[in-house]
Parts: sequence; structure tokens; C-alpha cells
Amino acid sequence: MSVAVTGATGFLGLHLVRELLRHHNRVLLLSRRNTVPAEERVTRFLQASGVTDTRLLELTPRLTSVDIDVRVPQLGLGDAAFQQLADRIDVLWHCAGNISFSDCDEDVWRTNVDGMRHVLALVSAGRREPLVCHVSTVAVAGGRRHGTVREEELDASHGFQTLYERSKYEAEVLLRRWVRLHGGRAAVFRPSGLITHHPTYPGRPRHLLQMAAEACAAGLRMFPELAAPDGSLRVPAAEGAQTNMLPVEHAAFAMVEAVRRRPPRDIDTYHVVNSRNTPMTEVAAAIAGHLDTPEVHLDPRPGPPVSPAVQAVSREFGMYTRWLQVTRRYDDTNLAALGLSYPGRPTVDRDYLRDCLR
Ligand SMILES: NC(=O)c1ccc[n+]([C@@H]2O[C@H](COP(=O)([O-])OP(=O)(O)OC[C@H]3O[C@@H](n4cnc5c(N)ncnc54)[C@H](OP(=O)(O)O)[C@@H]3O)[C@@H](O)[C@H]2O)c1
Repeated sequence: MSVAVTGATGFLGLHLVRELLRHHNRVLLLSRRNTVPAEERVTRFLQASGVTDTRLLELTPRLTSVDIDVRVPQLGLGDAAFQQLADRIDVLWHCAGNISFSDCDEDVWRTNVDGMRHVLALVSAGRREPLVCHVSTVAVAGGRRHGTVREEELDASHGFQTLYERSKYEAEVLLRRWVRLHGGRAAVFRPSGLITHHPTYPGRPRHLLQMAAEACAAGLRMFPELAAPDGSLRVPAAEGAQTNMLPVEHAAFAMVEAVRRRPPRDIDTYHVVNSRNTPMTEVAAAIAGHLDTPEVHLDPRPGPPVSPAVQAVSREFGMYTRWLQVTRRYDDTNLAALGLSYPGRPTVDRDYLRDCLR
């Protein structure tokens, strides 16, 4: 069985490739052209994950790559190369994405929505009728702040806080239409925030918490008046604001295993989440510890009007501050039915989060 992966060199994609190598003889990396070949980037990751040299010698010849760009028709390949690729694939993991939270970045739409369209053109062109495993996100729930989001929901009625959310929603809509019209088969995975406490290494893609910490540091550099004289920060947040995060290692394992245990007949959707939400106070404490800021107070009181500096930060780093208004949870019935829910260890608490930021 021939398995291909887009986005294989990204934070999640690297972990997916490692899982796929456990079960498949060869893995085809569909990756963006880079001065460092995709095979080498995957090899570096495997090495940093503790794979022994002997095992690496066995694994690396099983990786091959084709350079693609999901933003352009035929993924940037000529007719013959496109058809050849389409005829080769039995299972396509589509993990390439632009995860920028900037609303001015037109590349987000081109990568996530046009990219999905072009990937679907690829799987429709081949003679093998491949299974599509699409990496979506819990962010397709958009502006919904409270309650429990179910796996079968795909609902735009709450609006979207960012172009990223909207683009991932649109990509799912396109995929569902393709399944309906072409009788295709797909698994949709919606992970929550993915993190890891494993030490970083030069060139490893950053994870969400690192990006959030960097955004906080940048906010403080740009608007030092945000901090009180004692260095502490007061940030407006909803009462009980919380988020959902889980280790990327479990997410990648559960996704690959879900398809093995239950090959989809039409379309299956899975929330790949932690059954325990993490209070934003714990996230704030971890980031504050990392930045050497004495304390971050999440302030649920409606209180005095938000200062111009906070307003400026909200504009600049909107997605991060909007998360502070959310208490929603995610149902993971479909993954639980396969015995693949997150076991809850390690516990995603402030200590674990601080380890993730080391
Ligand atoms: N990380 C999370 O917490 C999280 C949570 C939920 C869902 N997701 C979803 O998971 C997927 C992967 O996210 P990630 O965190 O791994 O992101 P990432 O580290 O930024 O990786 C993105 C991957 O997509 C590739 N890519 C980007 N633009 C491309 C293009 N035009 N053509 C071909 N490949 C392209 C990148 O290639 P290069 O290596 O060349 O840049 C990289 O391999 C995304 O679809 C995201 O929506 C992530």
C-alpha cells in the first residue's frame, strides 16, 4: 500500500511520518522545495527523537519525496508527473497547512483552501481511489465560545475569529462535498493545540505554545507599558477561560491508529483532544515563568475600560487574546469508541507546559 503525506516536514507531519513508518514499508513525502531535502529533515527529527543509528539506516531508504506546492494547480507538477503521482497513491495524509493567525496573510487561504482543492484534484485523477486522511482542527468551530462541540458538527453560524479558522472550515466543506459527489472515502482529524515536552533541536518547527510565548514576548517589547511597575501583567479574560492541548506524540499515534482500526467507508470525523481542558491560568503561569514575568493576572471583571496598549495588543495578536474568552469543550466519542482517547498522562498542567517551553 502506497502512503503519501503532505506537510511531512511540519511539527505534526514529522510525528505522523514516524507513526506511518511503523506500519508501512515506504512513505512518500510530498513536500515544499527547500534547501534541506525533506528526507533529511525527517531523518534529523527521527535522530532527535532517539532513533538509533542502526534503525535509521533501516528507515531512511524507506522515505522518498516529490516536491510540490499545494497552492497551485496540479501541485506545480507537469501533466505526466501529476498523473504518475496520482496513480501511485493509496492513502493520502493531507497535513500541509498555513497556521498563521494573521488575517492579512492571503497565503493562509491559498494554502488551506486552494491547497485542499488541488489535493482533491490529485486523488480524483488517480486510478486507485485513495483514502484521504485530512488534518483539520478544532478551530473549525470558529467563534463558538461555550458548550460542547460534537464531532459531527460543522457549523459556520458562530462566525470565525480568524482567516485561519474560516479557511480550515472551508477546506472541510470542500472535502465533504468531494466525498458526496465522488463516492470518496475520508477521515477528518480535528486536533486541538499540539505541544511537546521533548527537547527542541535546530530546525524543528515550533509548536503552538512556543508561538504564544513568542507573541507575548513581542507584545511586551512593543508595548512595555502593558506591565505594571512590579512587572506583572493584567489581561482581560472570561471567567473560567480554558483551552485544550495535548501532546503531539499521542495525537499522531491516535490518528494513524484510528484509520488502521476503522478504515472509513465514506467519511469519519474525529476530535483529537484532551478530555481535560487546561485552565488559561495554567497556560498564563507557564508563559510568565518562561518569560521571567512575575505574574500574569487573568482578570474576569468587566472593570475599567481596556487600556489603549491592551487594545493595540489585541489588534496585533488578536487570536491569542480571543482564546482568553473561550470555555468550550470537545466531545471525542468517535476516538473513544476505538479506545484511542488521550490517556491523560502526562498531565497537561503548568509544569508540563513549562517543560514544553524549555
Ligand atoms: N500544531 C497544532 O497545534 C495544530 C492543531 C490543530 C490542527 N493543526 C493542523 O495540522 C496541520 C499541520 O500543522 P503544523 O503545526 O504541523 O504546521 P507547520 O509546522 O507550520 O507545518 C506545515 C507543513 O505544511 C507545509 N506547507 C506549507 N505550505 C505549503 C505549500 N504551499 N505546499 C506544500 N507544503 C506546504 C510545510 O512545509 P515546509 O516545511 O516547507 O514549511 C510544513 O511541512 C495544519 O493543517 C494545521 O491546520 C495543527
